[in-house]
Amino acid sequence: MMMGNLERDVASSVALLDRLPAANVAERMQILAAVSHDLQTPITRMRLRTDLMDDGPERGKLQRDLLEMETLVREGVSFARTLHNAVEEDCKVDLDALLASVAADYADAGKPVTLSGECGTPILTKPRALRRVLCNLIDNALKFAGQADIELRRKPDGGFEIAVLDRGPGIPATELEAVFQPFYRIETSRNRDTGGTGLGLAIARQLAQALGATLSLATREGGGLEANLGMRKAG
Ligand SMILES: Nc1ncnc2c1ncn2[C@@H]1O[C@H](COP(=O)(O)OP(=O)(O)OP(=O)(O)O)[C@@H](O)[C@H]1O
Ligand SMILES: [Mg+2]
Repeated sequence: MMMGNLERDVASSVALLDRLPAANVAERMQILAAVSHDLQTPITRMRLRTDLMDDGPERGKLQRDLLEMETLVREGVSFARTLHNAVEEDCKVDLDALLASVAADYADAGKPVTLSGECGTPILTKPRALRRVLCNLIDNALKFAGQADIELRRKPDGGFEIAVLDRGPGIPATELEAVFQPFYRIETSRNRDTGGTGLGLAIARQLAQALGATLSLATREGGGLEANLGMRKAG
């Protein structure tokens, strides 16, 4: 109960920050980092107080809530930090090699991730941000569907599309856009088991913007989810 409200509060303050002019991204992230950071002190104080409480079910529940709050705050700080540091320089990147290395990292860890398609020419992009976006999408596919297929497609206008596909439960049409909000997670029992904070897609979308790319989700024909990163003509 308590956590539901807190998550909503945090999400709505972040949504509020989102409406400030785009030029103030750095400032917005400082506000988010400051708010998250300042919450750490009272939460720690509350946790110390619970240590003095009588041992009982209420104390355990309170401690679990506080632990969850600590996680949210910590993730909030790191969310702000990531985005703040997102100002990475563009450089020439061999997209085929980058994707192959991402797929190989998962394969090494025993995760079923496949790769198809080719780009053929180097592109101008921010490789660390791109990698992070892809990993967030692949992690979701693995978590909710148990498998991921990466497809690199050339667009007729000379741009590229990187699709991360899965055959899992997908996302209801009405929530395909909402899941990009920070801390938004679909309320189903499957999420309680999978864990996570609900920041992966929010981070991915912000980073996609930094890449000059678009990120969208769609339901696949035959079931499952397609996450699509659209990149403009290679520079
Ligand atoms: N491939 C997918 N299949 C089904 N549902 C998905 C998929 N990707 C995301 N979702 C839904 O969208 C929600 C938000 O995803 P997001 O990546 O932002 O958060 P998370 O994975 O829950 O946590 P985090 O990424 O912070 O660990 C998920 O909780 C899940 O309900
Ligand atoms: Mg995720």
